[in-house]
Amino acid sequence: HALTADYIRSHIRTVPDWPAPGVQFRDITPLLQNPKVFRVLIDEFVHRWFDLKPDAVAGLDARGFILGAVVAYELNVGFVPIRKKGKLPYTTVEESYELEYGSATVEMHTDAVKPGDRVVLIDDLIATGGTMTAGLRLLQKLGAEVIEGAAIVDLPELGGSRRIRDAGLPLFTLVDYD
Ligand code: PRP
Ligand code: HPA
Repeated sequence: HALTADYIRSHIRTVPDWPAPGVQFRDITPLLQNPKVFRVLIDEFVHRWFDLKPDAVAGLDARGFILGAVVAYELNVGFVPIRKKGKLPYTTVEESYELEYGSATVEMHTDAVKPGDRVVLIDDLIATGGTMTAGLRLLQKLGAEVIEGAAIVDLPELGGSRRIRDAGLPLFTLVDYD
């Protein structure tokens, strides 16, 4: 709700001109460092999905791991890492997406989910939506049903949240920045 969102927003730091001039980087590390606000944040996600009882939580490399693993533990379900290419040792499936310059590829182990598994997909932030939609396609490739995507922050002007919803994934975010 609105008070919780404001409380979380007040613990996100904006770093100007990082990693490049003109970028306002939304840094979630102050939120992670504060045990009270970190707990409020995790509880928002856990309570949202508790009654839906997903089969697994998938997290996007790297900041989605921090959130996703804790949420999975609290829901008492397994955690699935979706990693940047070249990090996973076993057989993988992969999906690529376009960046401003070039492309990026994410991978998941072929046995990470089973057909029919109901999965939630977590990251810290939605910019262009490329990372989350690639994660969605990977999970769908293995036959999982992705019931919702979630992130702390949405940058709606970059169009990512609209792209994700247009791809058919319901999306839950807590804090918007124009
Ligand atoms: C950032 C962020 C999201 C993604 C969002 O991660 O944590 O995963 O970019 O951007 P998008 O919506 O345009 O795909 P980054 O790729 O910087 O990796 P990191 O977590 O390893 O720092
Ligand atoms: N903060 C964190 N990660 C990001 C951002 C940002 O502002 N933009 C793209 N990835």
